[in-house]
Amino acid sequence: MDDEQKQRYLEKYKQAKQQGVKFFPDIIYKDLLVSFALFIILVMLATFVGVANEPKADPSDSSYIPRPEWYFLFLFEMLKFFPGQIEWVGTIVVPTVAILALFLLPFLDRKPARYPGKRWRAIGVMGVVVLAMIALTIRAVITTPPQVEAETVATTLSESILIGQDLYSINCVECHGPDGEGGIIEGVEGLEGYDMKSISAQDEMYTRTDDTLFNVINYGQPDLGMQPFGIAYGGELSIGEIETIVDFMRYTWDDRAELPQEVTQASAMPTLGEDQVPSYDVHIEPLVKRYCISCHRPGKKNNNYLMQSYEEVMNTGDHAPNVIPGDLASNLIRMLHREEIDAGGPMPPTKALKPEIIAIFERWVLGGAPQTPEEAAAAGTVVTGTLTAPQTTAIPTP
Ligand code: HEC
Ligand code: HEC
Repeated sequence: MDDEQKQRYLEKYKQAKQQGVKFFPDIIYKDLLVSFALFIILVMLATFVGVANEPKADPSDSSYIPRPEWYFLFLFEMLKFFPGQIEWVGTIVVPTVAILALFLLPFLDRKPARYPGKRWRAIGVMGVVVLAMIALTIRAVITTPPQVEAETVATTLSESILIGQDLYSINCVECHGPDGEGGIIEGVEGLEGYDMKSISAQDEMYTRTDDTLFNVINYGQPDLGMQPFGIAYGGELSIGEIETIVDFMRYTWDDRAELPQEVTQASAMPTLGEDQVPSYDVHIEPLVKRYCISCHRPGKKNNNYLMQSYEEVMNTGDHAPNVIPGDLASNLIRMLHREEIDAGGPMPPTKALKPEIIAIFERWVLGGAPQTPEEAAAAGTVVTGTLTAPQTTAIPTP
């Protein structure tokens, strides 16, 4: 800005100042108009759009994670860049520097010009700040997991118990046993040899409310060796899923809980006729799910023997094949009979399966280890003479 421009500018400024605009009523009037307009907009929004209510505040609900409002998200997001020890940089240093910078702005940028195009420095700084705020907010929205709500996992009680039973088998059996009976733990890192108390005994079920059970699963008992299962605490189970496990435990182990008739039917396992060959899909899979899958899935100690599908049961494992159709000397069968072989110790490590359940595995292997009921029917019958199986085997209902 040269001298002449400056002169002109000052002149204009003086003139404007002399004419003057009164604070009252001129400025007040303008302000009033604008605030009134905003007020009307607010009333309209409140009336016609409204705010979605979150569930009523519940002091006993510890699964609720309070989150900052959206206009503060960028601040909270910034904290993620300063984890642990250096958190103070994010909470004190950065905001202080930012506020100081605002104070200094008038001293740093002293040009009289007011056109944005001529104030690239101030505009630049502001632009960067605003962009950073927007970027941080977007990042926060994208990376924040949704508030875990009690989504409906099951619509009926029987469905819930069945889903809960599966989830229990996958997540809990390795430590608590298929019936919550506990015992000496084997094959679980960190808890080897731990004498687990029963969680299905009467004095446990009678003294633990559903809420207590829910919380134990949700938060775990990290100091005792049980990790949290709730999504909010780093686990894999949603609130709805944990509720199904609680249903399963309550209706299976608590003799005070009356199981509704239709539930008894739904959870009854298919029966097996005299000499009939069991199939994987109908008979073996439920047993595997219940007694083996807690350890025989990815991420567990199991000699790479996965049992989540027919193919895996037949083909995986360091000592594969563990099931040889027609051969009762298959690893799987020998280990069920609690033999100690190359492939490892007795299976399941903790406690022998009931003889009638082992018999079903044996009949299946002897009958050619068929996958589908059709294949099983085609396999005909097996000679039961070699087996300890009773004539008609009803797989025990859990
Ligand atoms: C890695 C092993 C492990 C797994 C997996 C595990 N727990 Fe536990 N759980 C424990 C230990 C250890 C304790 C403490 C037992 C004690 O007090 O002696 C425990 C205690 C419990 C208790 C009793 C709490 C009390 O107040 O006495 C319940 C109920 C329970 N677990 C349920 C479950 C359920 C349901 C699952 C599956 C979602 C599960 N656990 C998975 C190790 C495990
Ligand atoms: C508590 C965890 C656990 C449970 C439950 C369990 N296993 Fe295992 N399984 C293991 C471990 C660990 C190994 C590795 C060998 C060893 O350490 O004994 C293994 C190995 C095996 C092997 C040998 C795999 C190979 O190729 O070397 C077979 C077969 C087997 N298990 C079958 C079963 C069957 C069938 C069931 C269910 C009736 C079952 N297991 C339940 C932990 C378990």
